[in-house]
Amino acid sequence: MKVIVEKNYEELSKTAANIIKDEIAKKPNLVLGLATGSTPEGTYRELIRLHKEEGLDFSQVTTFNLDEYVGIDKDHPNSYHYYMKTTLFDHINIDPNNTFIPDGKVENPEKYCKEYDRLIEEKGGIDLQVLGIGENGHIAFNEPDEALNVGTSVVNLTESTIQANSRFFDSIDQVPKTAITMGIGSIMKAKKIILLANGKKKANVIKELLKQDKITTKLPASILLLHPDVTVIVDEEAYNG
Ligand code: F6R
Repeated sequence: MKVIVEKNYEELSKTAANIIKDEIAKKPNLVLGLATGSTPEGTYRELIRLHKEEGLDFSQVTTFNLDEYVGIDKDHPNSYHYYMKTTLFDHINIDPNNTFIPDGKVENPEKYCKEYDRLIEEKGGIDLQVLGIGENGHIAFNEPDEALNVGTSVVNLTESTIQANSRFFDSIDQVPKTAITMGIGSIMKAKKIILLANGKKKANVIKELLKQDKITTKLPASILLLHPDVTVIVDEEAYNG
């Protein structure tokens, strides 16, 4: 696990965006795994700038998002579909037909989850996966537990995640209690992974992860220690607390 410590959020975002840019340069039809949440917003802003000012071309790129709330409409302002559209996709030249986000409104989620993993395989697998990390160590919505799902699955969100995500909703009661998320195995199959974390709130979990000494399902991100190509990019606040 490689670690890059940047001075602040802006530098972290530029570094992450440049890694994505370099991978697209190497492979224009890159299969890119994407996260939502506050952490990658700066990276997406920088990707938009690179597209508009430096001609970064997304026309052949395919994206797969990590997760989506269950029971939420695609055009709901708190859906991850809406987030991706407004935060990134509407501002770059990506083909909407090449963007995939779990559908939280499907009738048969179990069948759908299998199809999502199959579709990733069909597109050649994820070349580069962008991850955030929860304060409790979750990646995607793989929450700390006795066991972790290998493939894409429907999961219950923990109280701490519901609490953390309530900042985007009018009240905590409106936060969905379940989500569809790529599993740990789906994530580990990515050829290259970058995990981003910024701010003091992430300092405890980053300290734990960067001990790099134990793998435990109680800290789902620790499984990444088994992956051959992970870069953790943090700002000084997340690194030093
Ligand atoms: C979002 C996701 C989550 C977030 C994590 C951190 O697609 O998979 O694991 O990355 O909850 O969220 P923020 O960035 O809002 O602190």
